[in-house]
Amino acid sequence: MKNEGLKILVLGSGGREHTLAKICSQSPKVDQVLVAPGNGGISKEFETCSVAIEDNESIVHLAQDLKVDLVVVGPEVPLCNGAVDALQDNGILAYGPSQAGARLEGSKAYTKDFLAKYNIPTAAYGNFHEVGPALDYLDTCTLPVVVKASGLAAGKGVLICLSKKDAEDAIYEMLSGESFGESGREIVIEEYLEGEETSLHLICSGESFVSLPMSQDHKKVGEGDQGPNTGGMGAYAPTNLVTESMLDGFLESIVKPTLSGLKSEGVDFRGTLYVGLMLTKQGPKVLEFNVRFGDPETQVILPLLEDDLIPLLLKSARGEKLPTNVKFTQESSMIVVLTSAGYPNSYPTGEVISLPDSIPVGSEIIYAGIKVNEHGNIVSAGGRVIGAVGTGESLEKARGNAYSLCGQIEFKSKYYRKDIGFREFSRT
Ligand code: AMP
Ligand code: GLY
Repeated sequence: MKNEGLKILVLGSGGREHTLAKICSQSPKVDQVLVAPGNGGISKEFETCSVAIEDNESIVHLAQDLKVDLVVVGPEVPLCNGAVDALQDNGILAYGPSQAGARLEGSKAYTKDFLAKYNIPTAAYGNFHEVGPALDYLDTCTLPVVVKASGLAAGKGVLICLSKKDAEDAIYEMLSGESFGESGREIVIEEYLEGEETSLHLICSGESFVSLPMSQDHKKVGEGDQGPNTGGMGAYAPTNLVTESMLDGFLESIVKPTLSGLKSEGVDFRGTLYVGLMLTKQGPKVLEFNVRFGDPETQVILPLLEDDLIPLLLKSARGEKLPTNVKFTQESSMIVVLTSAGYPNSYPTGEVISLPDSIPVGSEIIYAGIKVNEHGNIVSAGGRVIGAVGTGESLEKARGNAYSLCGQIEFKSKYYRKDIGFREFSRT
């Protein structure tokens, strides 16, 4: 294939961005991938640049200075701030939704009204700005009940309340701004849904889309999915929970009405749509939308793409129709996230990390919370430190590869779950 010499800038600093950079750099169309701000691990493999990621001007200036051909925006904050609009207004191609499209993640209240308007299945709900009406609505709910901050809360804004007292406390604390600042000034009170969760990622361009392999992640810190929520302790793809015909059902009852609904609202949705689903006895229901690739789901989904990712990102960014025949490998992939013990509460940082001299075939190291210290060593700098990814012809092989790598990475407070994928293995 002709080398088009493209220069790509990936925005963000976590494991998701490391994977995006790796996959983009494998494209024969790409000459160089830069990451901003990246992290100390990513900087061993890619050129990194500093950027104020919450400031659109800083992003636009960087993209202009670097003369990049495409900016791939990783996290939700710049998307919700309108970074893609700012880049496109300055003639820079960018992958991701406009600020209007990003409301699907930035406002849960907006999303619930949108889902209701277009008859897309989701939990029964009410949106509230004030305590009085919220408490009145709570009186009509059965327990458990779910109370959510409407705005962005870094994955922490959802409380599953087992008692009425817990729900009342959540309502007061969110609406007063105490627990989530401005993000909690509007809340959603929602019916508790029972079932198994799975997520569907789609690369979208208006009403056309490419659906990526279905994945499951483990949000809870402890084995058996116990304990507090985290950013994600591990994930795998594909999942055999979802058959072809179930996927067709999701596309018909959820994805198509969402994209056509957005169009009728005047939103030409481009970028990633991440559909968080609960498979209930009454059928699949939308738990949430994100407007970016999931972390750590990206690390297991994108390696399964057999075709080149770059043309898909370019077409989406340009608003062109996406191909319908995108190929995926028949392999499986798993990531186990190595964290600093104590996460998601307080944890130590600055611990020197030792890595194997060579990375075995079928496995890959993904850098997340990493810095380079004054001696040039890579050290832990976050809760989620490193991802160990395994790929193989079966999920069992992928798991073997991922866990064998986990055993070869050392730092003092290393903690990881030993049971990633347990639901999948209990089904087979
Ligand atoms: P969200 O950010 O809305 O996806 O919520 C984060 C997590 O909270 C989800 O992945 C679910 O595990 C849980 N959750 C959210 N909404 C509900 C619900 N209505 N019923 C049960 N669990 C929920
Ligand atoms: N892993 C869940 C998320 O990225 O939101």
